[in-house]
Amino acid sequence: MARPRVFVSRQIFPEALEMISSVADVDLWESEMPPPRDVLLKRVRGVDGLLCLLTDKVDSELMDTAGPQLKVVSQIAVGFDNIDVPEATSRGIPVGNTPDVLTHTTADAAWALMMAAARRITEGERAVRAGQWRTWHPLHFLGQDIYGATLGVIGMGRIGIEVAKRARGFEMQVLYDDVYRREDLEAELGYRYVDQDTLLAESDFVTLHTVLDDSTHHLIGEVELAKMKPTAVLVNASRGPVVDPEALYDALRNGVIGAAALDVTDPEPIPASDPLLTLDNCVIVPHIASASVKTRGEMSRIAAQNLINGLNGERLLTPVNPEVY
Ligand code: DGY
Repeated sequence: MARPRVFVSRQIFPEALEMISSVADVDLWESEMPPPRDVLLKRVRGVDGLLCLLTDKVDSELMDTAGPQLKVVSQIAVGFDNIDVPEATSRGIPVGNTPDVLTHTTADAAWALMMAAARRITEGERAVRAGQWRTWHPLHFLGQDIYGATLGVIGMGRIGIEVAKRARGFEMQVLYDDVYRREDLEAELGYRYVDQDTLLAESDFVTLHTVLDDSTHHLIGEVELAKMKPTAVLVNASRGPVVDPEALYDALRNGVIGAAALDVTDPEPIPASDPLLTLDNCVIVPHIASASVKTRGEMSRIAAQNLINGLNGERLLTPVNPEVY
C-alpha cells in the first residue's frame, strides 16, 4: 500500500520528524520563514496530512486545494485561531493542537515579562549597554513593586491558572475574569471573581490569557486602558489582536497606564518602524513564551503523534474538534 504523504510547514525537532518519516513520505518546508501562500497551496495539493504552525492560514481554500483525501491537520501550538476549525469539522477532518505541555513554560514567561516591565529590566539593560550607567542614584529607574500587589488575570484557563498560582510567592491578591467561574479556585486559593471593569480598576498587573476570537478581538482598547491604574502594567502572552495596538501606544505614551510587556503583537512580526518600539515602557519579545527546549520538544512530539494518529484513522491525542468522532 502507498505510504501517506504529508506536508510539514517548518523544521521541528528531528525526533518528531523521524516519527513522521517512519510512517509517511514527508515534504518538509526547510526555510526559516513561513511558506508563502501560493507555495503552501501548491505543496498541500494531494497530501493526506498537514503539520502546520500558527503562521499558516488553514482555511476552506487550503482544504479544497489539498483535496478530499486530507485526513488530518496537526498544529504545533496550543492556539489555533489560524485554522478554520468549523470548516475542518464539516469535512470530517480532525484538527490537533499541543495543549498542556506549554502551560508552565508560558506562565513562567508571562511572569518574566511582568517583572521586566515592572522593574524596568530591559530598559535598564539597554542603558547599561549604551554606556549610560554613570552612577547609583536614588531616583533612577524606579519601577513598581510586585510583592503585595494585585494581579488581575483575564482568561482563567490552564495558563491563566498557572500564572495566578505563581503570585502566591509574592503574596499578591488575585482577581480574575473569565466566561467560566472557578469557585474551586476561589475556595482553595482565595482568588476573587470580578467583572472586567473591577479587574481593570483594581489590578496593579493585568495579564491576558484568552483565546483570540470575535469576542476577544481588541478586548483591551482605549476605553479599557482608561479604566486601569496610571501605574498599572499590562501583560499580553495570548494573541496580539486581543489588544488594540494604537490605543496601547497612546496609553503608554500619555501615562494612562505605567507599562506593558508583550510576547505577542499585531501584526507579527512587529515592523521595526512600529511606534510601540520607540517607548521605553513597553517590553516586546518575539512570541517566545513557550520557547524552552523541553516544551518545544514536547510540542513537536505531540504534533507528530497527532499527525500519525490522524493518518491511521485513530483519535488524535489532543483534538480541538472532538465532535468529528
Ligand atoms: C501557542 O502555542 O499558541 C503559542 O502562542 C506558541 O507556543
